[in-house]
Amino acid sequence: MQNKHETFKNEAGIHTDFKEKMTYSDYLGLDTLLNSHHPLSDHHDEMMFISVHHVSEIWIKQILHELHSATRDIQSGHLSTSFKKLARVAEIQKQLKHVWDVLGTLTPAEYMAFRDKLGNASGFQSYQYRMLEFALGYKTEYVLQIYENEPKLLAILQEAHNAPSLYDVSVQALARAGLPIDEGVLQRDVRYTHQSNTSVKEAWIMVYRNVDHYWELYELAEKLVDIEDLFQQWRFRHMKTVERVIGFKTGTGGSGGVAYLKKVLDQYFFPELWELRTEV
Ligand code: HEM
Repeated sequence: MQNKHETFKNEAGIHTDFKEKMTYSDYLGLDTLLNSHHPLSDHHDEMMFISVHHVSEIWIKQILHELHSATRDIQSGHLSTSFKKLARVAEIQKQLKHVWDVLGTLTPAEYMAFRDKLGNASGFQSYQYRMLEFALGYKTEYVLQIYENEPKLLAILQEAHNAPSLYDVSVQALARAGLPIDEGVLQRDVRYTHQSNTSVKEAWIMVYRNVDHYWELYELAEKLVDIEDLFQQWRFRHMKTVERVIGFKTGTGGSGGVAYLKKVLDQYFFPELWELRTEV
């Protein structure tokens, strides 16, 4: 005779009756997730092109979740709590970097078979990517214009644009530790990108020269450098993959393509953390 529990199991011991139970698919929302591919051509490779973008956007969503929480931790003085989250961000970035290996299997001829179907759609319009840049401190107001016809999205982006970045709260942490930071930096308008500042650089140099005394700030600095380093590696792989797939054609978003992607390689989120390396 079977007890109530056993009626849900087959002979391998696996539950099989889900009439009133939540399934794996319910929990993960797989119906929505796996029905989000809407290819515009019948070309075999378009599915991979869409999957790579989906995977990237899902990972960016997770990164934003971690970064926003880590920023709040640092803001409230809980640096060590933020480290686990920042380390996770770096691990996800490593995954993101590898999507270019998959995309690199797309040849120019294969991409050209469906590229015209994309119209003016481009990763340039990825709002999560802009949230990520804002969270790290790169504030470009002009990109908000893209979302002028989507008020809900625009409001979310504006809030992210007007909020202090991970680097703003890190510089505040330097000041809280007693390191002298210019008042103009501490009171700065966070809607603009942070510009390299001597007092901030000197403070980080102090941290790197007195590691034992400033261990937490030192660890924070290295976590930030990990994130910026991996971000640059992602940008570089994007640029080279684009060159491999479309050469020097202009982008669907209207930019000069590879030339534009090369230019953004010059952007820094945490400039002083790179400058100090020549001096320590
Ligand atoms: C064959 C595949 C791809 C090509 C040919 C391509 C090409 C380009 C080009 C030319 C740009 C410059 C803007 C424009 O004129 O469109 C751009 C920007 C961008 N793409 Fe891609 N891309 C590809 C895949 C991806 C993937 C998988 C992602 C992942 C989310 C992505 C995310 C972005 C982002 C975020 C930007 C804006 C970068 C910035 O403004 O700094 N792209 N892409």
